[in-house]
Amino acid sequence: MTVKLSDIQDARKILQNIIIPTPILSDDKLSKEIGAKAFLKAECLQKGGSFKVRGAYNKIHRLSDEEKSRGVVAPSMGNHAQGVALAAQLHNVKATIVMPKFAPLTKIIATKGYGAEVVLFGETFDEAAAKARELQETQGFVYVHAFDDYLIIAGQGTIGVEIVEEKPDITVIIVPIGGGGIISGIAIAAKSLVPKVRIIGVQAENCASVKTSLKEGKPVEAVFQPTIADGIAVKRPGEKTLEIIREYVDEIVTVSEEEIARGIFHCVQNNRLVVEGAGAAGVSALLAKKIKVSPEENVCAVLCGGNIDANLLARVLEQVLVRQGRYIILKLLVSDRPGMLATLLNKVAETGANVIEVFHRRAMWLAPLGRVGIEMLLEVRDEEHGQDVFRHLEEVGYYVEREGQGDWEK
Ligand SMILES: Cc1ncc(COP(=O)(O)O)c(C=O)c1O
Repeated sequence: MTVKLSDIQDARKILQNIIIPTPILSDDKLSKEIGAKAFLKAECLQKGGSFKVRGAYNKIHRLSDEEKSRGVVAPSMGNHAQGVALAAQLHNVKATIVMPKFAPLTKIIATKGYGAEVVLFGETFDEAAAKARELQETQGFVYVHAFDDYLIIAGQGTIGVEIVEEKPDITVIIVPIGGGGIISGIAIAAKSLVPKVRIIGVQAENCASVKTSLKEGKPVEAVFQPTIADGIAVKRPGEKTLEIIREYVDEIVTVSEEEIARGIFHCVQNNRLVVEGAGAAGVSALLAKKIKVSPEENVCAVLCGGNIDANLLARVLEQVLVRQGRYIILKLLVSDRPGMLATLLNKVAETGANVIEVFHRRAMWLAPLGRVGIEMLLEVRDEEHGQDVFRHLEEVGYYVEREGQGDWEK
């Protein structure tokens, strides 16, 4: 058994008037970057903040009345949690969600907001999944798998139908991969309707299991390091999804943490779309030129989710600004006398740079006696302007060092 186009079309009928048929937006900046027409399927605007409600609703809808009365249980890093909680609430079914203790706070709060009971357990998705299986046994709940289930895959596949219906001339669809549910559904839908379309999967370098699993011929566990793309931090793909990926997916690429951050930044800055790390992975792969496209192609990246903590988003944006030379961090020494900080800030003002933060350090830096260290975060127009500011401060006599150009991957 596998998923057929007709299963996805059935799911589509079930989901009609329940989900948002999310918009497909053209992205001129990205098009210029990659030299082909780029589109974004804005699934980050979906109910629950990600595509997950599609599969979860399709699954819960098909449960018998007896199963519905027992309630459902699901393990999740956060997005499946919200999808299941929302779908269960819409069916008046009790939902218990097991999330790792360190799941993002926004996702925990939102899941509770949909009326689910949240159990925080373990450090990883796998530990949460084992707990959910235990609750299935002891409480009689119905287990709702996050990806390795044909009804879940069919629900996610409705995204593929929407893309092809709106853009019949699409040639490439790029989809992030965690356990493989969303790419499986989209690949079956899109390739059944447009056999020539290329389907490309993206994983975080820090948790990339699919390539090795394909090589080994069975799902194997990835060497895992933390990633800002927590939605795709799944150590092992599913059995069913791996088979579908083998048959339908053309290529799999990986993206680094810095590339993911640039993808998030791009979506916020150029498209006014808040996306989480996993949601941005497709755009990240395109920006990093990991996917070959030719000028006549129409490329669609699926922005699968927008659930990112505000403080992580702020950190990502700031760090990318530093990387791009739009924020510069300078360390200087000034005499420890009244008015010296004001003089320095006047010199900065002469350059047109905007002061974001200033720290006055005496003991922490072990500055020479009689002098103090000043650390400044400045906003500048671009890298060239940043260099002008640096030069100007040196020319007027300050000792200056520039920070923040190291490699955060190491
Ligand atoms: C935002 C986001 N993108 C992508 C994925 C990957 O989905 P799948 O596990 O079906 O591959 C997830 C999974 O939770 C997700 O939350």
